[in-house]
Amino acid sequence: MSVTNEAEKKKVIFSAIQPSGTITLGNYLGALRNWTALQDDYQCIFALADLHTITVRQEPTKFRHNALEAYALLLACGINVEKSLFFIQSHVHTHAELAWILNCYTQFGELSRMTQFKDKSTKHADNINVGLFTYPSLMAADILLYQADLIPVGADQKQHLELARDIAERFNRIYSPTFVVPQPYISKTGARVMSLQDPTKKMSKSDENANSCVAVLDKPEDIMRKFKRAITDSDGLIAYGEEKDGINNLMGIYACVTGKTNEQIETEFSGKGYGDFKTAVADAVIAHLQPIQEKFSHYMTDKAYLEKCYIESAEKALSISNRTLRKVMKKIGFIPKTY
Ligand code: TYM
Repeated sequence: MSVTNEAEKKKVIFSAIQPSGTITLGNYLGALRNWTALQDDYQCIFALADLHTITVRQEPTKFRHNALEAYALLLACGINVEKSLFFIQSHVHTHAELAWILNCYTQFGELSRMTQFKDKSTKHADNINVGLFTYPSLMAADILLYQADLIPVGADQKQHLELARDIAERFNRIYSPTFVVPQPYISKTGARVMSLQDPTKKMSKSDENANSCVAVLDKPEDIMRKFKRAITDSDGLIAYGEEKDGINNLMGIYACVTGKTNEQIETEFSGKGYGDFKTAVADAVIAHLQPIQEKFSHYMTDKAYLEKCYIESAEKALSISNRTLRKVMKKIGFIPKTY
């Protein structure tokens, strides 16, 4: 992507995803799909948030492999490095530096209220590390370094984004306007894809029940099996409604991958049973993911290309983010670096 005056006039989008193993249908429908759709109209900056991933212990070889796979998969989902930047967070040192600074402008009480911290510290009770606690200040640094206007994410990241806004406003108030205060961009459909086994919980890669979560790289037969086993209700009606979390979730997924409205789906399946509907949802998801899976296999055969993409993006990201970091450090009163 060339950072021309023309491009600088466009609003800036920033978002990131953790390379912690499986990329799920939830990640894809809640976030990635929107990232790729916004590339023509915005200056888009995307990152693989690997610094966030080490808040949970990783096996080194697997971690490296997961990161490369995630990079290839996101290109396959449609990130276009001719238009957007797409880099690996740990390759751009300004993120860790601004995160430290922002830690000093974030209150202990604010971080204690983060529901994701509470959930994750219950799940990883043997490793409640400080990184897990201060994770939202790193996320704020990711966003604020690029003066991002809009942040496309799923609904589960809303609280972190609100904190990023509070941190930005606080810093701007103490010194002078420094950061753009970012807005969340949460789409109406797909913002919260639920577990297929417990539709009151979000679909998550860390779920112990393998049937609860569809991965973008799952084989067609696995996708079919998971949807066929999806938990629904007993009234047998394919219609959006209260106490119908399972059907609502399947309808949401079907709407995202086919572009149909709830009314159209209700008409299409009127008089049909849950079995037919589940098979149709699985077929539509399989068809939607097939070209992505093919492109992914292709990118994985060309590691040199992947490397070229992430290095070029990291160089540009460093140059943009350094401008913000220097401004921040000057305002705080650090002696400017002249070398
Ligand atoms: P992560 O890696 O958990 O998820 C990446 C994106 O996928 C969305 N998502 C979902 N959307 C709908 N339904 C679901 N079941 C579902 N599960 C996940 C998430 O909302 C997210 O948009 N902390 C972030 C990564 C990050 C980031 C950032 C995001 C680091 N720095 C700066 C935005 C801006 C995370 O762990 O996302």
